[in-house]
Amino acid sequence: MTFAVGEFVQGLTRSSAPSSPSRMQAILKASWVRRSSASLEMDILKKCEGLFGCPRLYYSLNPVDNGIPTSNHIFLPTAEEADNAERLSGFHWTSWKKASKKTPSPTPMPQWSSMHVHVHSLAGSSLTLFDDPMSLMAGILHAVLGWLNMLQVGALHRDVKIGNVLALIPPVEMENLFSVNHALLGTKCDEAVEMEAARLENLLVKLGVGRNVSAFISDADSAVEWSDFPGPRSASRSASENFMSAANLISLKRNQPHLHTPMDDLYSFFYVAQWAAVFRPSTDHLPLVKGLRDSVSGLGRSDGTNELKQLTHLNPDLRYGLFLNFLGPVFKDWLNELDTLAVNFGVATRGETDVAKLRLAFFATAYRGVGDLMEVIHKHQDSLRSYQPVVVDLGDTPI
Ligand SMILES: Nc1ncnc2c1ncn2[C@@H]1O[C@H](COP(=O)(O)OP(=O)(O)O)[C@@H](O)[C@H]1O
Ligand SMILES: [Mg+2]
Repeated sequence: MTFAVGEFVQGLTRSSAPSSPSRMQAILKASWVRRSSASLEMDILKKCEGLFGCPRLYYSLNPVDNGIPTSNHIFLPTAEEADNAERLSGFHWTSWKKASKKTPSPTPMPQWSSMHVHVHSLAGSSLTLFDDPMSLMAGILHAVLGWLNMLQVGALHRDVKIGNVLALIPPVEMENLFSVNHALLGTKCDEAVEMEAARLENLLVKLGVGRNVSAFISDADSAVEWSDFPGPRSASRSASENFMSAANLISLKRNQPHLHTPMDDLYSFFYVAQWAAVFRPSTDHLPLVKGLRDSVSGLGRSDGTNELKQLTHLNPDLRYGLFLNFLGPVFKDWLNELDTLAVNFGVATRGETDVAKLRLAFFATAYRGVGDLMEVIHKHQDSLRSYQPVVVDLGDTPI
């Protein structure tokens, strides 16, 4: 995928572009999209237009050359050729993996893709650039609310990672406040979901979440319609392993099917927040940060999390920098809530095939998970706000 940021003069974009200001910044993204998921992605992006924590899609197009859409079709077998197993295998070389003689794996189907270009709002930057822990947590919350908006329009993101959660420094004012879609919950809703939704609404007020957004969720190219429950189970997993939930990672390693759920995405937000805190460029020189980064970005991710959970601003270990010491207790509490929620979610859904029950469990869990994060931020907000960067003798950058 590629992208470019540019300034567009109003009028060069289609009519749904905002009427002011007359010059606006937009992101242009070109991506190779599989034939099967192209329309879904566009549909989701359109439904999210103007929603809190989501970018606004201005324009989408398929580049065409001499009337022919830009695609990889000419390099791949045709659909008829792919239908014939023998012919299909003639197109395929197992160049990297030694083919197993006993159980040769079936030749994968060609991935017919075409180029899609989206122009949308919100040029973000890396979450690692927030310079105080409260701003990072507020940004994460805003992006989580964008994710929840996506869920409310029917899509589960499934690719929450550092490149898809982007910071807005300074914050950007959105057209809409976040709101629970009560119409969606409707009459089929049970009390548990309504209770979680009401708690979330209270917490939005308590935390004073307004229209300003300091981070957002981007991309819907791995999203699925959550109501299509067999879909999330069989859809291929493209998400980055660094940010995958443990349940998703385990099933991937064991090659087992996995129903991707809101729980997986909520855990991914936790790992994104952890990554953003640990990879702040201004802490490159600190003695214990390198080892922590190796853990967080490698096989020892849970060791890294445990290391972080030991930190506290009450008795800071400055070899990690003050920022991480302030976030230690926040990560500890947040992960605790996630783990408790995951157990409850497992109890409610394991073996469950009734779509109505799964739907309720998905929403109750999503609202509760977001509410838990807000509760954690609320609990720690005074201490987070008391953070003052200090300069330590290991360099002259405030940490
Ligand atoms: N709206 C945006 N604003 C600023 N940077 C962006 C935006 N979207 C993507 N990027 C940057 O471009 C990189 C590539 O993005 P993308 O093409 O979506 O691929 P991926 O999501 O797989 O990283 C991202 O990792 C991010 O750093
Ligand atoms: Mg992306």
